[in-house]
Amino acid sequence: MSDDSQLIRLCATDAVPDGHPLKVELPDRPPLAVYHIEGNFYVTDDTCTHGEASLTDDGELDGFNIECTFHFGIFDVRTGEVVARPCTIPLKTYAVTLRDDAVWISLEGS
Ligand code: FES
Repeated sequence: MSDDSQLIRLCATDAVPDGHPLKVELPDRPPLAVYHIEGNFYVTDDTCTHGEASLTDDGELDGFNIECTFHFGIFDVRTGEVVARPCTIPLKTYAVTLRDDAVWISLEGS
């Protein structure tokens, strides 16, 4: 059972145009990436698991895949799974709640 008191508001839904990820900085933790794709929202860590690249700043979104342009590793933003090497470690993903025209996630257990 989810505890809504643990939800953190990341941004307004209209701050994330379809196909254009948004970086969200929270205190005391690495940045997050919010994606709006075909009407759905997804949240992952923003930092590539292969290096210090920001996927929102240095990545290219193609469908559900985000490509890190540092070494061309690719992740599926829905699951965090590695789609293309050299990345081997999946990207962390977060369950998204949409409420009050905003994107929320829980960091509980993350
Ligand atoms: S830093 Fe992202 S693929 Fe190497």
